[in-house]
Amino acid sequence: MLTGASSFGPHGSGAHWDPPYPAHSSLFGSEVRDPVISYVGLQSRSESDLWDALPCVRLFLEAASGPDFEEYSGYRDARDFTNEVFACYWLDRARHDAWLRSSGFVEWLEHPDRLGGKVGIWQETIHVSLDRMETIAGQPDYGIARAALNKGDTTRAHAYFGSMRHRIGAASRDGLESSLATFPLEAARLTCGLLVRVLPPANMAVIRSGQDWGAVQDDELRTYLGEVHPKLVQGMEFLRDYPADAGCYSCRFMMEQGPDRKPTKRSSGFAMFLSLRHLEKWSRSHPTHLAIFESFWAMVRKYENARNLRLWHEVIVVGDENPEFIYVNCHDRTGLLRWSF
Ligand code: HEM
Repeated sequence: MLTGASSFGPHGSGAHWDPPYPAHSSLFGSEVRDPVISYVGLQSRSESDLWDALPCVRLFLEAASGPDFEEYSGYRDARDFTNEVFACYWLDRARHDAWLRSSGFVEWLEHPDRLGGKVGIWQETIHVSLDRMETIAGQPDYGIARAALNKGDTTRAHAYFGSMRHRIGAASRDGLESSLATFPLEAARLTCGLLVRVLPPANMAVIRSGQDWGAVQDDELRTYLGEVHPKLVQGMEFLRDYPADAGCYSCRFMMEQGPDRKPTKRSSGFAMFLSLRHLEKWSRSHPTHLAIFESFWAMVRKYENARNLRLWHEVIVVGDENPEFIYVNCHDRTGLLRWSF
């Protein structure tokens, strides 16, 4: 069955748009009404201190009412800190709130002892409104799409620029423009040794775009690792290093890893943009995403349906009542800490 908006396709194609490859866009059942995605991160330049802190966070996540599922990644940031990130998914906000109340995580996070050591901790929690989000994937088994009701379905609202907006319900009634008139100035504040709360500006657009080459082999693997992956790294470094140019507050290129911290063959780019419009502009017109996009299309033409590379993304437009993001003992280039809102 095909799902998605009734009117879609690149400008001028009307009802005739026939995407060149299949993709899934998630719809959810009544058990997924008000999900929460919380990114819990640890950062340090000291490997041994990171190793010591990790089991503690894992224990909190395993407590009663913990996440329905989580995906664990790591990356080295521009300040050369190692960051370990748990992307935690609760399908129901009441369960998430129960976890916050009962797990002891909040008390641990806010305890003065967290301010003194060599490890920074951050928690970026997003209250997701299903009307203000979308997913697209070759296979729906990544991120929140794992909980989709319509897993066998494909959509025609994809494979053209503008389709992301077509897949977001609220975008048909509202431009979802940023609450900020201009890109913010740098905050230039002390953050290490402190707990800092930052309210994400309304309509900030958050994307996690994933790549899975676990099933890719031989010529396709050489093409992916030799042609596509390096362009992806360049794109992620551009967003990380020139944030104001693209209206991107923060970008992390993360490698998914096993519990032993060994990298898997999955990566994801996580980025927070001023608005959906800024994210669209980068993806449809910036040379870095166009280079990624073109190299992928070359793979589609070469391997057609024999292609084993799996791509997915989820996009959320943050509302005006989202909780504050919390940064404890983090360096000043972490997430939203950098900006003066
Ligand atoms: C190997 C990595 C990537 C490849 C091959 C790739 C390729 C593509 C392709 C083929 C599409 C069209 C998808 C569809 O609708 O069927 C797309 C859309 C998009 N990509 Fe990427 N991409 C990659 C990584 C990223 C990353 C890391 C980001 C942002 C952090 C990103 C942002 C977007 C956005 C926002 C769209 C939707 C544009 C719209 O519909 O207006 N992509 N990309």
